[in-house]
Amino acid sequence: MHLSYAVIDLSKLRRNFFNIRKKIKNVKIMAVVKADAYGHGIKETAAFLSSLGNKKPEYFAVAFPDEAVELREAKIKEPILVFEPFIKDQAEDLFRYNLIATVFDDEHIRILRNALKKYGKRVSRIKVHVKVNTGMNRLGINHTEAFNFIKRLSVDKDFEIDGIYTHFANSEDKDKSFAMLQIKRFNALLKKLDENKIKTGIRHAANSGAVLDLPESYYDMVRPGILMYGQYPSPTASGGSLSARFSARRADQAGIRKGINSDETSHKGINNSNRSIKLEPVMSVVSRVSSRFVIDKGETVSYGRKFTAKRRTTIISVPIGYADGFSRGLSNRSQAIINGKKYNQIGSVTMDRIMFEIKNDNVKVGDKVIILGKDKGEEITVWDWCKVLHTIPYEVMCGFRKRISRVYRGG
Ligand SMILES: Cc1ncc(COP(=O)(O)O)c(C=O)c1O
Repeated sequence: MHLSYAVIDLSKLRRNFFNIRKKIKNVKIMAVVKADAYGHGIKETAAFLSSLGNKKPEYFAVAFPDEAVELREAKIKEPILVFEPFIKDQAEDLFRYNLIATVFDDEHIRILRNALKKYGKRVSRIKVHVKVNTGMNRLGINHTEAFNFIKRLSVDKDFEIDGIYTHFANSEDKDKSFAMLQIKRFNALLKKLDENKIKTGIRHAANSGAVLDLPESYYDMVRPGILMYGQYPSPTASGGSLSARFSARRADQAGIRKGINSDETSHKGINNSNRSIKLEPVMSVVSRVSSRFVIDKGETVSYGRKFTAKRRTTIISVPIGYADGFSRGLSNRSQAIINGKKYNQIGSVTMDRIMFEIKNDNVKVGDKVIILGKDKGEEITVWDWCKVLHTIPYEVMCGFRKRISRVYRGG
């Protein structure tokens, strides 16, 4: 038994998911479970969501085919969209496991057509979703070129366009002008397709920031990830009314704006009371005190001697380190909760272990240490870490490695 573990509370996952459903009303949900369900365990998370009866997600989404294979091996039957483009060597898995590929290039079509001959004996037409680049500039066919690509695909007997989608660059920011421009570009394409009676299946765009704040981007389906896991994508995305919502025309005039740099990483004014979807963090991280000792005034603690004792004092050490996802950037700048009280973590974080000063408190070997989570009115949040590490909850949650076992509770 490893002493450090993450508790994944499935009851909280269910409540978060239902709260998203309530907000979006009759729109479908594609549950994003890539990157091991943001560190929560892809098989367990998807199996649980899939067990939610008539409220379950209509689709799942992953980044890569091998993640989808894990889902199929866990008996997940729902349609699975693979976000990332594929190469020839990955095409067999797409057919064998009945996955939906993302396409946005003639090369994708060529690979899939060849693979259909080889592996697609039971498949009459290949289901795909077309990804349109409206400004994220990571993946997808440019919105100005997409019409001709989709038109050709729509009359191709080997293919069925099951969906069309785009992805936002900064829907979680307070300033929605660029997201509104992306919506405008996507809408212009959809209008042209409609006018030409070209069927595109399910239309989708909204990640978590857009689910909270941009109902005009819901279309037929939304694609939340981080919200399901109980974290907001930024300190300010709310779902409330937004005075800073600029018009798409204004963003158009500004062109590709030079300075839409997010102010979100400043973490000022985090206030969850005005959020339109109530969330509970699904993951908490727990460890145990595994040793305790006294050091004299002037003694230092850990590599690099970055902490010096101001008094004769008691130190405890706890078996979690940067190899587990407790980032070295937190050295001397974080806290944990033991028996309902917060203690300062001291000295450099090491690969397998961190230390705390407990002074004269009665903390014993074996006592629980709340690394992330709540205990008796005290709380350490993912955002507390984000502030120190200048990062986002996504990176913190994905950062917990294999050695931190996942323990599933509730349901
Ligand atoms: C294409 C796509 N859609 C949806 C999501 C979900 O995003 P979020 O976790 O912000 O909801 C992601 C995640 O990065 C993504 O890449």
